Amino acid sequence: MKRTSLLLCLIALLVGQTTFGSITQMTNQPDSVYLFSYSTTRNSNTNGLHFAWSTNQENWTSIGPEMRFLFCDYGRWGVEKRMITPFLFRAPDGMWHCVWSLNEHTGTFAHAASKDLIYWLPQTYPVVMKDNNCLEPEFSFNSTDKQYKITWLSTVDGAKKAFCVTTPDFKNYIPAKEIPLTDRRNQRKKVTISGNTEIGTVHKVAWELVESLLNKQKLNAYRDQQWSETTKTDSIRFVSLKNLDATITIDNSKSKKISDLLVGVFFEDINYAADGGLYAELIQNRDFEYASSDKEGRDKSWNSAKAWRLKGNGATFSIDSVSPIHANNAHYAVLKTTEIGAGLVNEGFDGIAIKLGEKYDYSVFVRNQDRKSKKLLVRLIGKTGENYGETTVLANAGEWKKYEGVMIAKQTATDAQLEIVPQTAGTINLDMISLFPQKTFKDRKNGLRADLAQTIADIQPRFIRFPGGCVAHGDGLGNIYRWKNTVGPLESRKPQKNLWGYHQTAGLGYFEYFQFCEDIGAAPLPVIAAGVPCQNSATGGAGQQGGIPMCDMYNYVQDVLDLIEWANSDMKTKWGKIRAEAGHPQPFNLKYIGIGNEDLINDIFEERFTMIYKAVKEKHPEITVIGTVGPSFEGTDYVEGWEIATRLRVPMVDEHYYQSPGWFINNQDYYDKYDRSKPKVYLGEYASWGSTIYNALSEALYLTSLERNGDVVSMTSYAPLLAKEGHTQWNPDLIYFNNTEVKPTVNYFVQQLYGQNSGDTYLASEVRISDKNESVRKRVAVSVVRDSKSNDLILKMVNMLPVAVNTQVKLEVTDPILPSAMRTVLAGTPDDKKARPVIDNMEVSNNFSCKLPAYSFTVVRFKTKLKL
Ligand code: AHR
Repeated sequence: MKRTSLLLCLIALLVGQTTFGSITQMTNQPDSVYLFSYSTTRNSNTNGLHFAWSTNQENWTSIGPEMRFLFCDYGRWGVEKRMITPFLFRAPDGMWHCVWSLNEHTGTFAHAASKDLIYWLPQTYPVVMKDNNCLEPEFSFNSTDKQYKITWLSTVDGAKKAFCVTTPDFKNYIPAKEIPLTDRRNQRKKVTISGNTEIGTVHKVAWELVESLLNKQKLNAYRDQQWSETTKTDSIRFVSLKNLDATITIDNSKSKKISDLLVGVFFEDINYAADGGLYAELIQNRDFEYASSDKEGRDKSWNSAKAWRLKGNGATFSIDSVSPIHANNAHYAVLKTTEIGAGLVNEGFDGIAIKLGEKYDYSVFVRNQDRKSKKLLVRLIGKTGENYGETTVLANAGEWKKYEGVMIAKQTATDAQLEIVPQTAGTINLDMISLFPQKTFKDRKNGLRADLAQTIADIQPRFIRFPGGCVAHGDGLGNIYRWKNTVGPLESRKPQKNLWGYHQTAGLGYFEYFQFCEDIGAAPLPVIAAGVPCQNSATGGAGQQGGIPMCDMYNYVQDVLDLIEWANSDMKTKWGKIRAEAGHPQPFNLKYIGIGNEDLINDIFEERFTMIYKAVKEKHPEITVIGTVGPSFEGTDYVEGWEIATRLRVPMVDEHYYQSPGWFINNQDYYDKYDRSKPKVYLGEYASWGSTIYNALSEALYLTSLERNGDVVSMTSYAPLLAKEGHTQWNPDLIYFNNTEVKPTVNYFVQQLYGQNSGDTYLASEVRISDKNESVRKRVAVSVVRDSKSNDLILKMVNMLPVAVNTQVKLEVTDPILPSAMRTVLAGTPDDKKARPVIDNMEVSNNFSCKLPAYSFTVVRFKTKLKL
């Protein structure tokens, strides 16, 4: 789909653009030239595959320079995605094959194939050496036995040795064998490009091939230039622009049904969104399960004792794991005191914020190791010892027992800490030490922080996606998010490393996610791993994205089916009963399941995805499965993902793209050309790169095109949703917060305006602007929807120009419009991060005028006389 549109784009370019004088018809080009393929060592070898061309093998011209035609997708994000010593080979069938080395230590090479050197099929990373590396791979083809042969060098006991494998298809390899070093062909050549010596392979090719690479490079350069448009150049771009006039004609006769689920939210435990964020627990590391592996040993203070300290004299505090409360919760604290006054203190997440007079539920699991019953003082204290509230617990059990009660805060504070001080000397075991505000969202036990949850609810999202993002498919096989580990009593849930480099208690688990969805009237949209972990996993090493072994896939599929039973079945079923016992007798009414999260689309993915998809489809045809098509709006994963989804008739696919405002401005027609017979789209992750009003308006502008394409785009969600100040791994985010404040971005208000003003019918409209310039025209966008629940008509108008647009709105509709409409305007200077919507009532009729301020988003909500 995309390749065709690129081609059309290029043709349009060639026809319409005079600025690219170099794309001219050559009359005396050579029949054939030399093509050189290579990679450089820049950015730790992560710049990918480059080309240069020459007519004489002496003077080389780079195509780019540093234009990357193929990018290595092996290993974790950043510096591990290396392409070292690529070797390009053309097989007799005309197919190009590239093999390269990935690093200095892994016994794996990478392979990718292409027909045209522009579109590359999925990469594979065969593990060919167990304990040695795989350097400088070379390639040949034996036309007699039709086998491809890959040879490489390996460091064995400090010496270089040569090895080879053969394969008929790049899926099946005969085991590696050693070959004489002299069998290596050493076909790489050195050439000089712009004064630099580069090593790679030389090929004699038809001029047309080089021409197509040059055109691709020019097209990319043109796109980059368009997509990097910013307001900084607005003063030049729109130098002569005066206030504009526009007419917007809304035509009732051309209306279509659109999705009523268009705006939802994407929740992922990234940036401390869950623990220390939306999940209202105030104690950090309540279960003593933090582990140095959460941060791969980088932080010496990050261990089972994190956030805890001893206070007073004559006490020791250690961590033990003998006879824990539950095997999933293996560690607990052992507190030995010899003097009264010593105890254990928790610092919370950047302190504990409390409010005067409010009630806090505390609970703690205690085991009296010495079997002597103990009175425990549980206190909220200030940094300098102020008493913010206290209570006592009589812990008399010799085995694990939960004690709980309520504390009232005597003061409002942000720096509180919780301390547990035994009033009898001795040894005591403590675990699951918890403190919750009673005022959670909807007063739920084990609930959500009320202010944050309300901010999310105020978007009026039609669905909530959870638990990610990359958290859903995890860092390596062992880190895949397993829903069953996140339900049931808190002490039996299985905490784990959070892929974003911290810890996940699973206190906010599937039950709580579903409950939140129900509480705000949003459809639950769980996303489960497609049997493969994140392709950017730090763990897993060679054979990256090796999926769950097929022998374990049956159980994995069963887990998915059990999830549907847990969510939707009555109490007579095994999993329905478990849900009911957890406090929700009625089904949760699950309708959507995402399978996979922007995975690397290869055979390993396809085999597992297909298995899960078919099982769900067969057993639960009522569930809409959402597939995945990679992390970009184009490229191999996108194309292959769409191909699989189309072939399997997957109802919907999840697209992701984080792009510049210029991309959103220049791609408003992205879905206009989508094939309506193919799967529907869930735009599950998108955002422009910033939190200014300029960014927010580019998203608002793009959202008009999503409403226009609401027949093919069924759902959308900005990502990520939440970020705790001081703990962000990803920027920008929609809502920032700390322990006491919630700080929505301007982008949030765009989401909110769309969420609160969604509709289910789209009405065609025509916009005529007094200035016909394309760059002006595309910065004014309009969409009109009708909401069948309220019978309101809603007009959204975005003006991304530095001047106001005096607009005449003509409503050629049959709806009996009332004379007063609610208008909301979000406007500001382009780099404004503080702009907020301003609401007023305006007089309207079927033909009225409305001024769109410079850099603004205006929503007019028309009431009608139609009865509900
Ligand atoms: O939204 C942040 C991350 O972006 C998600 O976890 C992942 O799916 C994407 O790469």
